[in-house]
Amino acid sequence: MPILKIARMGHPILLQHAAEVVEPDGPEIAALIQNMAETLEDAGGVGLAAPQVFTALRLFIYEVPASRTGDAVAVPLTTVINPVVTALDDEIELGWEGCLSIPGLRAAVPRHRNIRLTGFDAGGKPIDKTLSGFEARVVQHETDHLNGVLYPMRMSDFRYFGFNEETMRYPLPLPDIRPESETRL
Ligand code: NI
Repeated sequence: MPILKIARMGHPILLQHAAEVVEPDGPEIAALIQNMAETLEDAGGVGLAAPQVFTALRLFIYEVPASRTGDAVAVPLTTVINPVVTALDDEIELGWEGCLSIPGLRAAVPRHRNIRLTGFDAGGKPIDKTLSGFEARVVQHETDHLNGVLYPMRMSDFRYFGFNEETMRYPLPLPDIRPESETRL
């Protein structure tokens, strides 16, 4: 199975509105998911959306290591097809994000803390779950990719945007969770 090329910010595929997947359990989708999983593993990221590998379909994969989930339990490799994300309340928090399409950089981005996610898994079975914290952040980031949105477009404060090495060497403390009404999204 091939490792796929990853589109970088500036390529128009990343600005497209991706199409619904018609047959979530079809063989073409299974092959795409397999190739995306190998590509994500090779690239060393947390999530990968189909438009990032030049396929404008509503599908992404993600995997969260135990060190990032907040409760020290890893989220295994998960596929979400035709996702729908709904905010459960007005809690917004800033958190650090990177993107394989924006290599070498990261930023603190405001996201909903608590969401409901619906969609379909790799076998075509319905997904309906509530997520919070970093996993909710990843799902919002990846769903944005399906709507042509990259994380810089979500930023509220560009002081929290920089190269990985520099922002880790000189960490800026992030403000606490704020209600949505006080946050420019
Ligand atoms: Ni990304």
